[in-house]
Amino acid sequence: MKIALIFGTRPEAIKMAPIVKELKRQDDIETIVCVTGQHREMLDQVLDVFNIEPDYDLDIFKPGQSLTDITVNSLQGIEKVLEKENPDVLLVQGDTTTVFSGALAAFYQQIKIGHVEAGLRTGNIYSPYPEEANRKMVGTITNYHFCPTDANRQNLLKEGYKDEDIYITGNTVIDALKYTVKDDYVFADEKLNALDYENEKIILLTSHRRENLGQPMKNIFSAVRDEIKDRKDVKVVFPIHLNPKVRDIAHEVFDGIDQVIFIEPLDYLPFTNLMNKVYLVMTDSGGVQEEAPSLGKPILVLRNETERMEGIEANTARLVGTDYEVIRKNLRELLDDKSAYDQMAHAQNPYGDGTAAEQIVKILKDLAAK
Ligand code: UD1
Ligand code: UDP
Repeated sequence: MKIALIFGTRPEAIKMAPIVKELKRQDDIETIVCVTGQHREMLDQVLDVFNIEPDYDLDIFKPGQSLTDITVNSLQGIEKVLEKENPDVLLVQGDTTTVFSGALAAFYQQIKIGHVEAGLRTGNIYSPYPEEANRKMVGTITNYHFCPTDANRQNLLKEGYKDEDIYITGNTVIDALKYTVKDDYVFADEKLNALDYENEKIILLTSHRRENLGQPMKNIFSAVRDEIKDRKDVKVVFPIHLNPKVRDIAHEVFDGIDQVIFIEPLDYLPFTNLMNKVYLVMTDSGGVQEEAPSLGKPILVLRNETERMEGIEANTARLVGTDYEVIRKNLRELLDDKSAYDQMAHAQNPYGDGTAAEQIVKILKDLAAK
């Protein structure tokens, strides 16, 4: 059996890495890894951490590229790879533009598609944008839906997908996380070693969602700045996404505030270990919303909708949107009200037991044997 995997951005690489490793352990499977290079540095960081050498690198990255550029360039590149390799199944993961193009290219050649992290929905086609639409479009042409949770499966059943094509496997992000976090972890960046995680309140902030660019992101950063600036025991570590639109807003709002520590996007290992040490996480990321609950870290989700309701229902995450006052109020409460904080700071892992990759590979083998 020949299985191809296509991915292009940081989170897809993190979540595909456990599957690549598991596939490569199988004698009876030929594994082809193709990266589009939708991200460049942020993708390469993850490939290095997991020691993955792609068979194909379409290298489509251009700074400031539009959704159309990413779609067209990856679609054309992937077409050629699939024509040459003709795999039995193509695996795609998540909801980025690479995922959409990869699945579409496979569909055009009538190659079977396995969608990893299937069935996530907010119900709002513009939030997250364009990811909610990507998930739905990919779902339509997918043969095997690998859902992290039963709630994801229910979403697909409601949309009329057949139960026999849906598998609940957990999320491969938990497989990856199992191997990274160590209590005695030492950072390569001395700025991170120098922080007093015991006596100060360290907040980890990440933000990159397209629908937050502009005023919503300004609101988020201003709320954080104004709430912390007179609290000397609070610091914010902000590994800034490489998108210049994010960087411009971050500098506009935070420059001159000493308590905000800007760093470059962190490698996956230091990032998850930083998450393990901080007091609180504020994020609009999808993957971070899945990781923080396992580490018992309260999260303020800086979005109006989330497709990851499991963390909210387990009360380790709060959906606070992008309104200045609402964000300040929630942040203030978690900084000042110990019992509110303690209620949220418990480890919860609704996203699987860390065996998702193993399960997915077994399902693919069973399907091939039929
Ligand atoms: C993309 C995905 C989003 C995912 C996110 C993970 C789409 C439409 N969006 O968003 O679903 O949550 O990745 O991070 O697929 N850049 C670099 N170097 C890099 C990566 C990005 O310089 O390694 C800069 C470039 O200027 C680039 C910009 O960031 O143009 C935005 O990158 P892009 O892939 O278009 O969108 P993301 O916001 O990263
Ligand atoms: N991450 C990382 N370094 C960082 C920020 C995030 O390695 O500086 C990891 C994080 O642990 C998670 C993934 O990147 O697994 C999330 O990626 P991102 O927020 O870019 O995308 P999303 O999950 O929102 O699609």
